Amino acid sequence: MIEYTDSLAGIEPHHLHGFFVGWWQPPTPDKHLRLLRGSDHVVLAIDAEAGRVVGFVTALTDGVQSAFIPLLEVLPDYQRRGIGQELMRLMLDRLDTTPNVDLMCDPDVVPFYERFGMIPATGMVRRGWMG
Ligand SMILES: CC(C)(COP(=O)(O)OP(=O)(O)OC[C@H]1O[C@@H](n2cnc3c(N)ncnc32)[C@H](O)[C@@H]1OP(=O)(O)O)[C@@H](O)C(=O)NCCC(=O)NCCS
Repeated sequence: MIEYTDSLAGIEPHHLHGFFVGWWQPPTPDKHLRLLRGSDHVVLAIDAEAGRVVGFVTALTDGVQSAFIPLLEVLPDYQRRGIGQELMRLMLDRLDTTPNVDLMCDPDVVPFYERFGMIPATGMVRRGWMG
């Protein structure tokens, strides 16, 4: 059974293994916990029986006009079970009064985000791997 929570109480680095699949320099579980703590909003999906976090979404916001969703990920073994959709739904609920909600994504995930009424837009990024 998957449980959803916005609390980080009791979450430790060892609950956070297996994320950032395919990243060149994936954050360690320690850094993962720090970025969760540093986010304005976070929602976790937890497999209570397995005792691990299996999905998460974060958001940063100015609390007035704009919010940004930097990270959404579901562990590979848990994908395609509705968890990503529920994480997004819960996060968008929390950002309900913020008119601008932005995120960056690869083209293959565009149809997933279109389900939430989001539309493609042009963006600019700087990444650590650029040197
Ligand atoms: C994208 C991601 C979060 C989706 O999570 P998920 O738990 O597998 O998605 P869900 O099971 O909730 O999918 C909900 C619906 O969206 C569809 N969907 C899921 N991923 C999709 C994709 N990449 N493209 C189009 N549709 C997708 C599902 O088929 C499902 O449709 P249905 O309701 O008709 O069956 C997950 O695949 C993931 O973590 N990917 C790797 C990290 C990533 O790409 N994150 C986004 C970075 S911006």
